[in-house]
Amino acid sequence: MSQKICIGVAGLGTVGSGLVEMLQKNHDDILRRTGREIFIKAAAVHDLSKKRRLPPETVLTDNPMSLADDPDIDIVVELMGGTTAARHLILRAIENGKSIVTANKALLAEYGQEIFSLAAKKNVAIGYEASVAGAIPVIQTLKNSLAGNHITSVLGILNGTSNYILSEMNSRGLDFPTALKAAQEMGYAEADPSLDIDGFDAAHKLTLLIRLAWGRHYPFANLSVEGIRRVDPLDIEFARQFGCRIKLIGMAEEKAGKIKAGVFPALVRSTMLLARVNGAFNAVRIEGNAVGSLFLHGLGAGSRPTASAVLGDLLALAKRNVLNSADDNTGFVDDLPLADFLSPDEAVNPWYVRATVRDTPGVLRDIAGVFAQENISFAQLIQKEKQDDRVSLVFLTHATQGRAIRSATGALERSGILLVPATCYRILENRDHEAEGA
Ligand code: NAP
Ligand code: HSE
Repeated sequence: MSQKICIGVAGLGTVGSGLVEMLQKNHDDILRRTGREIFIKAAAVHDLSKKRRLPPETVLTDNPMSLADDPDIDIVVELMGGTTAARHLILRAIENGKSIVTANKALLAEYGQEIFSLAAKKNVAIGYEASVAGAIPVIQTLKNSLAGNHITSVLGILNGTSNYILSEMNSRGLDFPTALKAAQEMGYAEADPSLDIDGFDAAHKLTLLIRLAWGRHYPFANLSVEGIRRVDPLDIEFARQFGCRIKLIGMAEEKAGKIKAGVFPALVRSTMLLARVNGAFNAVRIEGNAVGSLFLHGLGAGSRPTASAVLGDLLALAKRNVLNSADDNTGFVDDLPLADFLSPDEAVNPWYVRATVRDTPGVLRDIAGVFAQENISFAQLIQKEKQDDRVSLVFLTHATQGRAIRSATGALERSGILLVPATCYRILENRDHEAEGA
């Protein structure tokens, strides 16, 4: 016999409208899986005059707080985004004992401690699968499927908009603004797209993954974050000549109890699986001491793929007899301690360095001298034909610490050799099991 579950949906934009559509389209499947009718009792939006495709009985309001206070609503689904109204709504709904489903990584990265601790106090469940990597079930994977592992690293492409932009620049030669506009039109970008292109959206997601992988609180503000705004078509072309693709990477590794984490553009060898993740697809590679290496790949943004993750959480809650149960929110039983940090500058990688200089005799010798002082050795060099009297020199280094690269390029800038600041990207190397055909 079916029992009705009442939900309140705050936000009917890209994700919210996908949720409404899929609830209607997959109604019979959902009923067979859960034995429950999921009924949207009310939905909240900004603009009441816009046309919405809602079931006729659903009440439309511009007051999201009314969802938190409605005694008939069992689950509040927060799909508004932002950290102000969404935070108030979620805290009030938890206070009132309602289960939560949200796709809001910014909120959980910045206010997760507050929200999870209130949920634990009130014994309320929070589903947030859609908050990281869209349709990819990475939250459940870390929280449940890999719970028996000691995780050693989490590495991935976590922002669909940036990946779409870089893919379009690479394959179609689009310039940055045209590719960004296309990503916005597809519904991939955040309301404020600087969150996407400046790396903060990926950093929000990485903060959540660190929490799930190691049970540590890594304050978002402590993450080292660099976006893709400065990626020049020249770098994309040079990367191709070196057999690489440029990708925005989120990376976290655990070494002797300390966590090294950051978001940065990197050259990825084209034989790596990550290099083949294109368009709005995301991917996450997780390494654990039992599982070895696991690679998850799927659509990281967009209406239906994100709604798929929201629905997964919703159905899991609807199936439970007791909706309010906080046992599984963070994946760890105790409050999460602060992480011990290790600077990503201590990571050892090969590096790509592009220097724009005046084409004069001896310039290469001077640059090589500065790098030699930092003990950096070159693996490859390309010189691009000069334009006017400027020339781009591109070096690939052998493995070296980020700190040494920063110090060498700083010295070059101070010496006046560089016409513009050097562009420096890490190069991610193959792992044996990832090599093509392996
Ligand atoms: P969106 O298209 O901008 O939609 C936001 C919705 O929330 C709109 O319906 C808007 O109303 C409503 N809204 C915003 N603030 C409100 C307020 N204060 N009161 C009432 N209604 C309000 O956003 P989205 O792309 O669907 O993203 C929603 C959430 O999902 C965000 O947290 C985002 O980070 C996350 N997410 C998005 C994607 C994606 O692919 N887009 C993927 C994963 C996660 P109006 O319709 O009247 O403007
Ligand atoms: N703006 C985000 C992205 C949406 O492009 O990945 C998914 O979180």
